[in-house]
Amino acid sequence: MNTENRKLSLPEAFKSAMRGLVGACSLITVGQGESANGLVVTTGISLSAEPPMILACVNRASSCWPLLGREGVFGWQALGAAHQPVAERFSGKGGLQGPARYAGAEWVTTDSGVRLLADAPLAFACAVEDMIDQGTHSILIGRVVQIRTDPEAGALLYWDGQYRILQN
Ligand SMILES: Cc1cc2nc3c(=O)[nH]c(=O)nc-3n(C[C@H](O)[C@H](O)[C@H](O)COP(=O)(O)O)c2cc1C
Repeated sequence: MNTENRKLSLPEAFKSAMRGLVGACSLITVGQGESANGLVVTTGISLSAEPPMILACVNRASSCWPLLGREGVFGWQALGAAHQPVAERFSGKGGLQGPARYAGAEWVTTDSGVRLLADAPLAFACAVEDMIDQGTHSILIGRVVQIRTDPEAGALLYWDGQYRILQN
């Protein structure tokens, strides 16, 4: 059992340790047309039911971060068993940027102009409630304004550096 590695800096040891935490993959979508963008996160969770709110931790150096404050609305969706290719595109794999990340999946646009993944297990259109800076990231708080669900979609997890699937 390796509980301590003195050769690593504390941030490096933290990142290495976090590989042992099971993450549920979810997707933040933001922006329209040529400025559409998004990122996959494992930090998206429920915050409050009344009113319905979610949170996610977004790196302030990511290309999406400035858009979130500017647009004021975004989509948040859990990823399902079939969505590893979507996750890879929205992590910027292969250098994919902006609208190119949306290729190869089906999207619906809500009344508030938010694009949501059509077959996501759960997908919320959100208004930006707050962005609280801490360290390298902002805690993005979204107030849920619209809800879609697909209970058959399963789940996409990330653990020990690899995607894993849960399916009924
Ligand atoms: C499984 C997985 C989980 C991630 N979780 C987060 C996260 O919670 N917050 C975050 O800011 N970036 C996270 N990332 C990184 C972003 O998805 C993405 O790689 C990065 O923001 C791309 O930056 P860019 O848009 O500037 O190219 C994660 C990446 C992967 C593959």
